[in-house]
Amino acid sequence: MFLRIRKEGTVLLQDFLHLKAPGHWINDPNGFIYYKGQYHLFYQHFPYLPRWGTMHWGHAVSDDLVHWEHRGIALYPSKAYDRNGVFSGSAVEVEGALYLYYTAIRYDEENPDNIHRALNNRFRASQALVISPDGVTFDNLDAKRQVLPVPAAPEAGDPQNTRDPKVWRAADGSFRMVLGSTREGVGQLLFYRSEDGLTWTAAGRFGDPVLGTTLECPDLFCLDGRWVLLGSPMGITADGLHYPDQSTWTAADFDEAGCRFALQGTPAMVDWGLDLYAPQTTLDEDGRRVLIGWMRMPCPVEDPPDGRGPWRGMMSLPRLVEWRDGQLCFPVHPHVTACFTQPAEGLAPLAHHRPVRLQGTLRSGQAWNIGGYRLKLEDGRLCTDRSAVFAHQPDSRLTACTPALGRDACALDIFVEDHLIEIFLDGGRFVLSHVVFDLDGTLEGDFDAVTTTRT
Ligand code: FRU
Repeated sequence: MFLRIRKEGTVLLQDFLHLKAPGHWINDPNGFIYYKGQYHLFYQHFPYLPRWGTMHWGHAVSDDLVHWEHRGIALYPSKAYDRNGVFSGSAVEVEGALYLYYTAIRYDEENPDNIHRALNNRFRASQALVISPDGVTFDNLDAKRQVLPVPAAPEAGDPQNTRDPKVWRAADGSFRMVLGSTREGVGQLLFYRSEDGLTWTAAGRFGDPVLGTTLECPDLFCLDGRWVLLGSPMGITADGLHYPDQSTWTAADFDEAGCRFALQGTPAMVDWGLDLYAPQTTLDEDGRRVLIGWMRMPCPVEDPPDGRGPWRGMMSLPRLVEWRDGQLCFPVHPHVTACFTQPAEGLAPLAHHRPVRLQGTLRSGQAWNIGGYRLKLEDGRLCTDRSAVFAHQPDSRLTACTPALGRDACALDIFVEDHLIEIFLDGGRFVLSHVVFDLDGTLEGDFDAVTTTRT
């Protein structure tokens, strides 16, 4: 859903429910924070074509996590050390200012025919900071600084693949940073400490093959007394198809003062559809942990009705992060459910491109059809098939299943938009989300409730 509004003479682009690329390309959520009474969501953005290229940070704000107003580009690749990309990172509030930490990319050799590509695909990564006084002005050229230069010694990190700073305030007010990295082909976490957020010292390192070859976009937080590592390990391929990388969560032991880290147990999927990548969390206005992830799209949406031009990449719905019986669950944020107030039975909502919420119990032997997207319970697992609605991408993942549920019925809460279906099973115990294209108007299933939104 979209809206265009006029404010002080400028036309602003707004999104409803899902934040979408404002045109061209977006990937990871960055700098997600509730700051001065508003949610700020930055994101990886290539503003020239609907494909990945030299990264900028786009910016959007929201009062409620469901109405998003695009604010244009916050960070440009404007310094010698970041001229080839302002990669992913995070935000913290420091005495009223917004500190944005990101990875700065400099190619060893630029391609003279295409500035947006490296010649030999070699680059150097350092960690940098922009201080915004207000969350409105950002890229004053003097506001940027490198806080961790390219690692010089191998034990300090890989000079190319060390990235995605997640920064937070520790219990005593000092700062911690975790970076994803690699060493001898094994994914690593690098920890740093700081008193002021400006000067950082190395504080620890942890490596394990479950972190893949490089761990991208680590997020580490304490939830009800227990630490959780979220991350996107590269190179752990389930099936050798497109989009091999996925996002996982793992319980962890972490001593915040000393930065000593260990994993507890094995990683599990954040989302079983495997389209969701690089999720980032923050605290919402009520102190609840909330997660948003990037939904990868294999090709652009051409000719969208709001005139934003071809766009590719969108964000998931906001999800809460909660422990239940030792398992991390991701229920949809209550601000989303509060929007679905209108009964939609008989309205053919899919045919009218309305957002729709479907609630019901799926039983073995039943098959549901959402505009050509199919669901059933098979061997006690929820299994989905998008082969009819995936823009002719036959070598991509078309089917997905949850692990065995040990039951022959499951309660589903499903949110459908033109390009995204998000299925919450048992209130978020498992979530399975899929990018889709060209849904038809059909809706077949034993639903208890079908609702839509006012707008
Ligand atoms: C994850 C990622 C990050 C990197 C960014 C570049 O999707 O590869 O590791 O910072 O995207 O766009």
